[in-house]
Amino acid sequence: MIVPQWVIEKKRDGQALAADEIREFILGFTRGEIPDYQASAFAMAVLFRGMTPDETAVLTDAMLHSGGRLDLTRIAGPKVDKHSTGGVGDKTSLVLGPLLAACGARVPMISGRGLGLTGGTLDKLESIPGFQTRLSEEQAVAVLADVGCVMIGPTARIAPADRKLYALRDVTGTVPSIPLIVASILSKKLAEGIEALVLDVKWGRGAFMKELDGARRLAAMLVATSHRMGLRARALLTDMNQPLGSAVGNALEVREAVAILTGAAGGDVRDLAIELGAELLEMTHLASNRANAMERLNRALTSGEAAMVFQRMIAAQGGEARVVEHPGLLPAAEIVAPLTAPTTGWIGAVDAERVARAAVILGAGRRTVDDAVDPAVGVDEVAGVGTRVHRGDPLAVIHANDEARCDEARRWLSGAFVFSDEPVPRPQWVTERHEGPPA
Ligand code: URA
Repeated sequence: MIVPQWVIEKKRDGQALAADEIREFILGFTRGEIPDYQASAFAMAVLFRGMTPDETAVLTDAMLHSGGRLDLTRIAGPKVDKHSTGGVGDKTSLVLGPLLAACGARVPMISGRGLGLTGGTLDKLESIPGFQTRLSEEQAVAVLADVGCVMIGPTARIAPADRKLYALRDVTGTVPSIPLIVASILSKKLAEGIEALVLDVKWGRGAFMKELDGARRLAAMLVATSHRMGLRARALLTDMNQPLGSAVGNALEVREAVAILTGAAGGDVRDLAIELGAELLEMTHLASNRANAMERLNRALTSGEAAMVFQRMIAAQGGEARVVEHPGLLPAAEIVAPLTAPTTGWIGAVDAERVARAAVILGAGRRTVDDAVDPAVGVDEVAGVGTRVHRGDPLAVIHANDEARCDEARRWLSGAFVFSDEPVPRPQWVTERHEGPPA
């Protein structure tokens, strides 16, 4: 039996905790025997003092075992998933899930909602009329067996310790701690019952890791801890200084994802989905090498197979599957207003944080967990860094349902663009790759 305050004091004083101390603390907290104030103090002690790789692995395991795992024993094929640390305009999951399923992987994606400046896959999917993200585990496994891909919200059995602890961390300034982030992310991913994971660790203005160095440390610890837990994992560090792709806002992002899946559009989101997908096809030996992986993924997009999987998944989850052929069936905003270039030159920077703020002001995101989102609004056709523009050319298009919000969003958005008189190269999206030991 541990004494919670002794565990807190030990961590406060910078000592490594024993496995039993971590396990009993997490179990006691999950059962409600250890109160929120002690769990908050524990989180703050970890934030200041850190954890060793051993402690981080035990914490992850304890959080995983606070609940159950999806039972995927009857699902044939390699089960995989990707996790993104969250960005602006990041609709990659919508493309990658169906794409991987079309290549023979099975993808049980448990996703989150947007909060603050980062969007969430569940909000994007729910902009599709009728789409249900609250499936029971049995229903989710049935969709996975039938379609190869399912996208749902967390169920009550998935890492309940994380749900409780994350809510406290959110209001006690204890989110930015690498061991706490690693245990939080991996306990949920391990509970999906997957065997390989690719991590998209974002850094920059629109990411919660603003600096490359912090993102690098997080990626290394995520990969190392996954391997200790028997989960094959690789991480890409990706640049989130400018928004990803051209749309920010729920239905607008679904529209962009559909355009990529149906071959009508390319760009950064397509490239990133292929990079991330290739890591998983290699890790699971669904592809013999990188070239083979890229070829399979490209083929699944151009042949329409990935689009068909997306359509089948939407139908299986109660949604209006015709949006894949007729994106006009997605909710649309009443006001559609372009923002034009004030000068001629090259776009030198697009501040992802300002674009995200504009989208939140329009109603595309949440300021607090209880806010509702407007599925139709956001910012579309955002021109990227390196684009040559002439005065009066469109830089972005605002989709709004309210004139005052449209004006305020315009102010944020116009401050997002920086111009240069010289040509500016397009930035490298993938800045680094972290790989653990060979599978
Ligand atoms: N995302 C998570 O799921 N957990 C964290 O702690 C941070 C980001």
